[in-house]
Amino acid sequence: MSSPLWDKGNAEIDARIMRFCAGEDVVLDRQLFLYDIQASKAHVRGLERIELLSEEERDSLLEGLDALAGEFERGEFVLDERFEDGHSAIEAYLTDKLGDVGRKVHTGRSRNDQVLVASRLYLRDTLDELAKHCKRAAEICLERAANDDVPMPGYTHLQRAVPSSTGMWFAAFAEAFIDNARLAKHTRTFVDSNPLGTAAGYGVNLPLDRDGVTDELDFERVQLSPIYAQNSRGKFELQALMALGQALLDVRRLAWDLSLFTTREFSFVELPDRFTTGSSIMPNKRNPDVVELLRASYGVVQGAMAELQSLLSLSSGYHRDLQASKPPVLRAMTRGLDALAIVSELLGALEFDAERMAEAIEPEMYATDRAVELARDGVPFREAYRQVAGAWDELASRTPQQSLDARTSPGGAADLRLDVLRERLANL
Ligand code: ARG
Repeated sequence: MSSPLWDKGNAEIDARIMRFCAGEDVVLDRQLFLYDIQASKAHVRGLERIELLSEEERDSLLEGLDALAGEFERGEFVLDERFEDGHSAIEAYLTDKLGDVGRKVHTGRSRNDQVLVASRLYLRDTLDELAKHCKRAAEICLERAANDDVPMPGYTHLQRAVPSSTGMWFAAFAEAFIDNARLAKHTRTFVDSNPLGTAAGYGVNLPLDRDGVTDELDFERVQLSPIYAQNSRGKFELQALMALGQALLDVRRLAWDLSLFTTREFSFVELPDRFTTGSSIMPNKRNPDVVELLRASYGVVQGAMAELQSLLSLSSGYHRDLQASKPPVLRAMTRGLDALAIVSELLGALEFDAERMAEAIEPEMYATDRAVELARDGVPFREAYRQVAGAWDELASRTPQQSLDARTSPGGAADLRLDVLRERLANL
């Protein structure tokens, strides 16, 4: 390993202890590395503005940082156990290339604010991705609600209840994903605050241009209190996981629906081949593994939230415990976004068996319609309810479409109002 940043010339390095401290940290830092470089560039420009770097020094450092980013992206620079972490790798690279100028990059900053700023930049992008995926899922649901609207049974307690439709089902998930996209956007604002310049958690005795750096990194605001900047670590990640978790709760429900609908017993939905797998022993099997793993993805986020919550039991200021927030956050974000990308594809590819679904709508499912009609005509509702109970024969001539029209046509209480949803989506 290259000499750690904190080596004063006589550091005693025990490889096993170092490995314990680093864990998988340096490898995980690959996901934050470009953000760390981006923030380093803003820091360097800020140092020049307060005349701690000359223009030439600034330019050499900026060129060095750009070169590092390029080499990293092309796989020529590998971030690995040679370095204690990504932050150390940046300084080591610049020092190697630029000598003393490289040694100046850390003026007025600490790895404590470096990891914070990189994490916030990463999560800002991640939340943008989350919003994008949710919007895409909503868009597909809206399209399918409008174009593939056929009757299907509606369930409560998993028992047949009243006629529903694929339009109602898709519209439900459209609205859910619009709300989830909204939450991702709100959460982005929560995260969008700049910690860089708070150093180790107590500020530094330099007139750092915190506002300029904040603008350059396009943060909405500055994190003013250096102590709070540290204390907020783990909390902003938790909030981002909560936003992701909300979307994945809907994915879990959707996956459950599809798990049922694709059974031979329901046979409402057929999954395209590419979303299924086979069994290693049972030649007859066609399994909805993708749907099941989508369902499981909320568990990954839930686990990550639990890890974070258990970590956040610390006194004020930086503690190395906080490093342990990185693995669960990165794992959950990656898994969650992958799941959401697949959900959109899956939603677009579902094939419904309209005939089979219509067969599953039996006359008793019109009972509520009938009771409500009688009530509309003046019979007290409880009386109407009793009159209808058991008199299923009277309902035999009804059709699912009539039932749906009375509820979901324009002005009806369950009008899908896809235009309103489309507008909400467009305004996000
Ligand atoms: N990998 C460390 C973390 O994630 C970076 C900060 C190290 N700071 C320190 N004081 N040891 O927290």
